[in-house]
Amino acid sequence: MISFFAHPELMVELEKNAVVPRHVAIIMDGNGRWAEEQKRPRIFGHRAGVDSVREIVETSRTLGIEFLTLYAFSTENWNRPTGEVSGLMGLLKNYLQSELRTMLKNDVRLCCFGEQERLPADVQTVLQQTIAETRMCRSMTLNLALSYGARSELVQAVQSLAQKCRDGILEWQDITEETISDHLFSAGQPDPDLLIRTGGENRLSNFLLWQSSYTELYFTEVKWPDFKKNQFLEAINIFNCRQRRFGRTSAQTKAV
Ligand code: IPE
Ligand code: IPE
Ligand code: MG
Repeated sequence: MISFFAHPELMVELEKNAVVPRHVAIIMDGNGRWAEEQKRPRIFGHRAGVDSVREIVETSRTLGIEFLTLYAFSTENWNRPTGEVSGLMGLLKNYLQSELRTMLKNDVRLCCFGEQERLPADVQTVLQQTIAETRMCRSMTLNLALSYGARSELVQAVQSLAQKCRDGILEWQDITEETISDHLFSAGQPDPDLLIRTGGENRLSNFLLWQSSYTELYFTEVKWPDFKKNQFLEAINIFNCRQRRFGRTSAQTKAV
């Protein structure tokens, strides 16, 4: 499951012999409260959050993490005030435009999990261009969860499977866990090994419900704009202290 050893440069901060998770998923929460603490508008927190995104993407690539999934905007987030939603969409567009060169240079492929068609037209255009231009990059996959909701993802998968059964492409008896996984946005990607949520809430908020069935969960009070390389390495160190048993006993796990 976990195949990459830490990059030598970062070994000082990671525990000795630490293994780096193959797939990390992050619920980037706490931007609004971070800004409010400083008596600034919420968008100020979202803007600061973009710097954390850059640093965590860069650190992930250096560490050799193969898949990084960032929850940037949920289906439920459409219910926020229109000013905040348009501010977030503007930041997203700027981020994509400013990062394309860095993504290509670092061989990072961009994918999108979510209802792309609900995003503003100009954001969709930049997003599709970035996805197309980075499609051959292989060193890391960056999944941005945008207008993403796990239940809606599952509904879409079930509808698509039902259609295939109706059309005679698939027999209902042949539907397996793999078939379902193959109809999600994450098709072809491994499940997350580690899921981090910043900002102090202990919930999943409709994120990767199927894919996280055996993921290690890490919740931190640190708000997203303050979550930088050191906090990330600490999360990976704690992940390294966990024993993943997948239903087996401790003794069986050690024997593997
Ligand atoms: C996370 O920060 C960013 C998004 C959900 C888009 P929040 O905006 O939820 O920040 P808090 O939770 O209100 O502090
Ligand atoms: C979850 O954060 C969604 C993202 C981080 C994009 P929210 O702030 O929307 O979550 P809830 O509503 O507090 O659960
Ligand atoms: Mg929040």
